Amino acid sequence: MTTPVLVAVAWPYASGSRHIGHLAGAYLPSDIFARQQRIIGNEVLMVSGSDVHGTPITVRADAEGVTPQDIVDRYHSEFLQQWDQLGISWDLYTTTGTSNHSEVTQQMFLSQLDKGHIDRRKSEQLFDEEAKRFLPDRYVEGTCPHCGSQDARGDQCDQCGKTYDAIELLDPRSKMSSSTPVLQETEHFYFRYSDFNQPLGSFLEAKQGWRNHVINFAMGWLREEGLLDRAITRDLDWGIKLPVDDLGEGKRIYVWYDAVIGYLSASKEWAESRGDPDRWKHWWHNPQARHVYFIGKDNIPFHVLFWPAQLMAVGKDIGGEELHLPDDVPANQYVTFKGGKASASRGVGMTIEEGLKRFQPDSLRYALAANFPEQADTEISIEEIARRVNDELVANWGNLVNRVISMTHKTCGGAVAKPGTYSEEDVSLLEFVDRSLEESAGLFESVELRSALRKGMEAAQAANRYLNATEPWKLSKTDPERAKTVLYVALSAINGIRVMLSPFLPFSSEKLNEFLGEPEGWQRIQLPVGLPIPKPEPLFEKVEI
Ligand code: MF3
Ligand code: ZN
Repeated sequence: MTTPVLVAVAWPYASGSRHIGHLAGAYLPSDIFARQQRIIGNEVLMVSGSDVHGTPITVRADAEGVTPQDIVDRYHSEFLQQWDQLGISWDLYTTTGTSNHSEVTQQMFLSQLDKGHIDRRKSEQLFDEEAKRFLPDRYVEGTCPHCGSQDARGDQCDQCGKTYDAIELLDPRSKMSSSTPVLQETEHFYFRYSDFNQPLGSFLEAKQGWRNHVINFAMGWLREEGLLDRAITRDLDWGIKLPVDDLGEGKRIYVWYDAVIGYLSASKEWAESRGDPDRWKHWWHNPQARHVYFIGKDNIPFHVLFWPAQLMAVGKDIGGEELHLPDDVPANQYVTFKGGKASASRGVGMTIEEGLKRFQPDSLRYALAANFPEQADTEISIEEIARRVNDELVANWGNLVNRVISMTHKTCGGAVAKPGTYSEEDVSLLEFVDRSLEESAGLFESVELRSALRKGMEAAQAANRYLNATEPWKLSKTDPERAKTVLYVALSAINGIRVMLSPFLPFSSEKLNEFLGEPEGWQRIQLPVGLPIPKPEPLFEKVEI
């Protein structure tokens, strides 16, 4: 049975170049998962886009003296080019700047307003008297009210992951001027998150198999203080306009309220673009669907608490049915690059552009996947990437393919030869490969991608050991019939292993697919005798550093 799977990927701010930390955090894991789900026959809809609103964009535009749209255009096109170079297999990569996205956001807002989950409140906000403006979110920094970290941002603390209102910051400092902000009254719309503490508790309690750090963070938050009502508008002139004019000029919808709606609006845009405008419902109005969100850990509160609350709050107002809630949110921890969290806004780490200059895309994908921070933060460095590529990818998998293809040319005239009877070690290698395929399928289900990759590499090691033990290069002189059988078995092993590795290594896998055919399900299929094998050509380059 095929399952409709929504692969929902965090929307990167179009406010600066992304780092390999972001790549390892969300974009690669989602692509690897999506590719595997397609191979096993599920109906994958993989969507994301550039997050073009909020103070990350405007702060950058102010600093450069250009418009927010200039910033957005620059980085959105950079991202598009990089996704292409990296082989990220989006069904749709759009932006939150489309009119479709504004419409869906406004529709959700109006539904929730109508149901009483949004209300209007006066409050005091930080105001810069020199710059004569309010200081939402990233326009202010200070000390975190939860953990005491000293360089917390106005909306969220990098250290503990908690989100809060800028006025809760201790010791706030304006980023616009050196002045200390004062409080000034303003009016905003609030989302009544507190209405959803009960249903969110039940929603989370029913979840099985979530990563510990994700479920503990969310449950801890609900248990300790519960969600508080939060402003979902800001004193800004960049962002989605309010669908009601009660607040007057200079107010926009808060970026985190709109960005998560992108998963839904992008699904609609995708359906529209293929001439089947209701097709999004197959994922969103379908209890059988599975929604998996790929994000970094700083995004956890927005995806496991706030977004489910927003979805619950519209009831059946969007399309006439309730909207599907997240099924799994396998958030990654951080990749630390030489000790500091890779962060675009703080300029730490290696950008994707630099990564692609130094390494082939499959090599970069491999080394990052082998270090995915699925349970804890991981360290990465240029040396570590090079070691993974040279000692593992090239020495193990690349070498296996290369030597078996070379020998097939020397011994069998460049085509798959008919094997004789299998020996015990032949059978046991192929059983090992088949078992690895089965086990890796299970690891994909639970989104343990690092371990799934290891399964594939262990199978490649087993095949290399098999060659070292059987020595077909000697057999070709002493026992050519046996040599043909050994090469048939080795090629068969490769035919299974390449399926397991293909989600990780799309470019080199494509070269193998050219003669082995596209994978037909998550399995090793019988190699046809006589199949022509092209001349050997190294799959990966060794890296010099
Ligand atoms: N732009 C946010 C970030 O880079 C992520 C937004 S994810 C979304 O941290 F779901 F809200 F879109
Ligand atoms: Zn904190």
